[in-house]
Amino acid sequence: MGIGVYFTLPLGSSGTFLPVKGPPTIMATVAFHGVTKLFPGGDKAAVDHLDLHIDDGEFLVLVGPSGCGKSTSLRMLAGLEDVDKGTIAIGGNDVTEFQPKDRDIAMVFQNYALYPHMTVGENMGFGLRIAGEDKAEIKRRVQDAARILDLTKFLDRKPKALSGGQRQRVAMGRAIVRKPQVFLMDEPLSNLDAKLRVQTRAQISALQRRLATTTVYVTHDQVEAMTMGDRVAVLKDGVLQQCDTPRRMYEHPNNVFVAGFIGSPAMNLLELPLVDGGVSFGGSVVPVPRAAIAGIGEHSVTLGVRPEDLAITTGSGLDVTIDVVEELGADAYVYGQADIHGRRQPIVVRADGRIPPKRGEVITLSYAAERTHLFSTVSGERLVD
Ligand SMILES: Nc1ncnc2c1ncn2[C@@H]1O[C@H](COP(=O)(O)OP(=O)(O)OP(=O)(O)O)[C@@H](O)[C@H]1O
Ligand SMILES: [Mg+2]
Repeated sequence: MGIGVYFTLPLGSSGTFLPVKGPPTIMATVAFHGVTKLFPGGDKAAVDHLDLHIDDGEFLVLVGPSGCGKSTSLRMLAGLEDVDKGTIAIGGNDVTEFQPKDRDIAMVFQNYALYPHMTVGENMGFGLRIAGEDKAEIKRRVQDAARILDLTKFLDRKPKALSGGQRQRVAMGRAIVRKPQVFLMDEPLSNLDAKLRVQTRAQISALQRRLATTTVYVTHDQVEAMTMGDRVAVLKDGVLQQCDTPRRMYEHPNNVFVAGFIGSPAMNLLELPLVDGGVSFGGSVVPVPRAAIAGIGEHSVTLGVRPEDLAITTGSGLDVTIDVVEELGADAYVYGQADIHGRRQPIVVRADGRIPPKRGEVITLSYAAERTHLFSTVSGERLVD
């Protein structure tokens, strides 16, 4: 797709023109407004008052642990699941009550669901054939999609004669030929081995940018989320925790859950007692603004610090006894425990891979003050902006 006619539309007041594929269409934004899903027999909502606005052409990744409501959110957007409360809009139109076929979306599932008795080309064109599209047009679109996905030489093969990665591309092709307003993808890479997953992840990102089709992509893998998404929405127990760019999410997690979920190894989250003016970390005091804890009556605060924002020092700091050293070549991750006011707390630090410390050693850690995060130990919410 995107081959052949290009229309140009004026963009803003700057006078620049951008190529837009196909005939001018309405802006395919997606909006969830207070969307709630309660499955029969479930004691709490699988998706709870989801508010999310996705821009036209944006690649939004929904991420979170198993059972947090990712697939349910996507299936409601696709019309495969009823919405109990709230509304869903595509391109500004309320589609909450629309049949899936009337929503102008295309979905790519985890288990590709290719028809084994059809060739790759027939699989890709099937949706268009059902929709009564003209034969020559189907052929043209299938060939265009095959070219984009590097599948041309496989068009006459059956799916069983393809590798996992190639099948995955056929499933993508089937979505592309439809020229939908929105792509929905539910863990489309989870059947691929690790190496292929990384490759295919890059291909999907590049393809999405090229087609500029609004995309909602579901994964439980935070690395996938961070590397692919323009923005990432983190869900937990059906509740949206934060929706931000990957960088913002990494540098400014709104709560302890997001802080611990995004990043690998995870951010250290240390429960530290409040002392005068702040929390005590290995003899020095990380300042906590009085206003941040005013009225919440906390005795301790959770300090978040990423493994790369700690450093092994010869000066004073927090003493850590090393349990495990993971050597990765360039870096080493050092896992140990610190005695913090009578409690052992686990801690991980990134160290130089060429001269890593050894198991059993005691090291002293300092931290980059401007790179710490403070959270309420009670509510888990971020305390300081
Ligand atoms: N058809 C159903 N009937 C009853 N409960 C359901 C149904 N589908 C999902 N659920 C429940 O809703 C919650 C959210 O499920 P969902 O499939 O959306 O999770 P998910 O985030 O996609 O998880 P995973 O990463 O494991 O795919 C879960 O608690 C699940 O058990
Ligand atoms: Mg799922």
